[in-house]
Amino acid sequence: MELLKTREELQSWVNNRSSRPRALVPTMGALHQGHASLIDAAVKLVDSGDVLTTIFVNPTQFGPNEDFASYPRRLEADLTLCESHGSTAVFAPEAYHIYDSNSSVSIHESKLSRRWCGASRPGHFDGVCTVVAKLFLLAQPNTAVFGEKDFQQLAVIQRLTRDLNFPVEIVGCPTVREADGLAMSSRNTYLSEEERAAAPILHRTLRSVANDISRGKFPSPEVAREEIIERISSETLARIDYVDVVDSDSLEPLDSFDNHLPRLLAAVFFGNIRLIDNVGAPQSIR
Ligand code: PAF
Repeated sequence: MELLKTREELQSWVNNRSSRPRALVPTMGALHQGHASLIDAAVKLVDSGDVLTTIFVNPTQFGPNEDFASYPRRLEADLTLCESHGSTAVFAPEAYHIYDSNSSVSIHESKLSRRWCGASRPGHFDGVCTVVAKLFLLAQPNTAVFGEKDFQQLAVIQRLTRDLNFPVEIVGCPTVREADGLAMSSRNTYLSEEERAAAPILHRTLRSVANDISRGKFPSPEVAREEIIERISSETLARIDYVDVVDSDSLEPLDSFDNHLPRLLAAVFFGNIRLIDNVGAPQSIR
């Protein structure tokens, strides 16, 4: 496995291997089994081609009061994980290889980014779109793999790819969970023991309400949404940022279940740590 630290090293690696299919796995490092599953999926997708994993804590997707400075950075352990899962190369640049100190251009997606994580974290999706577009231009992948845990991010990246005509197939992979259902996330390591014990209520509630939606228990998405809020609020360590029931494709909030595949989205603080999760409700049987 090759470690590429500069834009020039990446570009010459890309040029030397231009005939091979290439899958990109963009990450911010602090890799866990969720990331490993993305690399595994990428390895299968390109068959005998190349898998390029990127490790870059992207400053432009963090707000001024967010955890950019303290975001976990563990390059050595990350490289071991990438190699053991079959990455051909890792691109782990410093920020100045990605952003000019005087840069003044960024990419703004104006529809899907408006709500939820976009509303709670102003500018976040501009940073995501900008860095993903840069990585596509530099790495020129055929395929790029992202986790469904960041369901809104996946939809925004699909839109970015479509609207800017990137010749890249976007593949979403299922969320990988701990034994108690908590979605794997680099931020889980910040949770105190009590917060970690409380956090599975997020997935437990979404999964249970999703099952009840499929059984026809709720007359409307609003009632299902209220049920999620009530159940999560029963946990004293949990503070809800947002909860919504949306259409899985358009991400539009639902006012009826008719002819929709609902997706339940939520972001919840446990202490200062904001966790996100989402669950799909199979087609209603009502
Ligand atoms: O999901 C992430 O880890 C990041 O948002 C991404 C897609 C690597 C862009 O920095």
